[in-house]
Amino acid sequence: MQHHTILSSQILIVGSDADVKTVEDLFVSQAEWRCVRADSAGQAMWRLRQETGIDVVIIAPGLRVEAFVDLTRDIKFGRSAGMTPVVFVLEPSLAHRRSDVYEAGADDCIQLPAPREEILLRVLNAIRIKQATDSLENATAVITSLAHAIEGRDAYTCGHVERVATYSLEIAKRVGVPEKDLGTIRIGGLVHDIGKVVVPDQILNKAGRLTDQEMDVIKRHPIVGHEILMPLRTMQDVLPIVRWHHEKPNGRGYPDGLSGDDLPLLPRIVAVADCFDAISTQRAYRPAMPLPECQALMGRLADSEDLAPELVNALMEIIDQDAHRLVEVGA
Ligand SMILES: [Fe+2]
Ligand SMILES: [Fe+2]
Repeated sequence: MQHHTILSSQILIVGSDADVKTVEDLFVSQAEWRCVRADSAGQAMWRLRQETGIDVVIIAPGLRVEAFVDLTRDIKFGRSAGMTPVVFVLEPSLAHRRSDVYEAGADDCIQLPAPREEILLRVLNAIRIKQATDSLENATAVITSLAHAIEGRDAYTCGHVERVATYSLEIAKRVGVPEKDLGTIRIGGLVHDIGKVVVPDQILNKAGRLTDQEMDVIKRHPIVGHEILMPLRTMQDVLPIVRWHHEKPNGRGYPDGLSGDDLPLLPRIVAVADCFDAISTQRAYRPAMPLPECQALMGRLADSEDLAPELVNALMEIIDQDAHRLVEVGA
């Protein structure tokens, strides 16, 4: 069948020989699907750690449901929980365990007896979702490595984006940013300067004062970054951070001159992290500032609302408690 041949996939089938027979027969005959077997829950976990390319786990436990519901939970919520889909095959007499199976995180639960074609299609759907999530993850990985590569052009900002991501995340946690936004803030920290890709090396690494014209080129990077990432669906939440990380609560920032409530929390956080890293590390045009001076300057920037005062406070508290873990303090 045409729609069964669009994917080349690796399937882990879990259960005793007798129990997996129905399912296994369906897949071993398809050349493009490579089947791996595991008899027990322990063996299945071992397999998942060994083989990296497994696209779906099919669990056919027969009547021994208990251990395999636990296995499902381990795969979906355990420490190394990945995005691997789990399709559970349930014996006719165990229909009442369906909700347990879903509660354990299974992506699908096929109640036997079920038509061959339906089992195939439901497994295929699970694989398709997995491959779609994989490609979204890949897109994010490409963008973040691009961000690191761009940073590498600037001789003085080594590690800048990683540190901005770390400080931003710590500030966000401290001021109670919801869990669901923490991933956004980390990625935002990593890619905030991605628009610098259009700034020529001689401007990026210039030791002397920048001319007004050169400054204008640099000041375009938030808009360029926004344009680069705009077409990517996975980057939508990050866009405000990229575009507005040089905005100031007092309205004197760029590129849009936002102020007050118009300037969202996440870009405000990254602005504080960005500024602190800029002054606490060496640049082409000046040495790193010692920590006490950094703290004093950050205080002044909070007073003038160039940075959000409550977020500067949060970062200063974090630095006070944890300076040695977070900052390589300037001389
Ligand atoms: Fe920037
Ligand atoms: Fe930056």
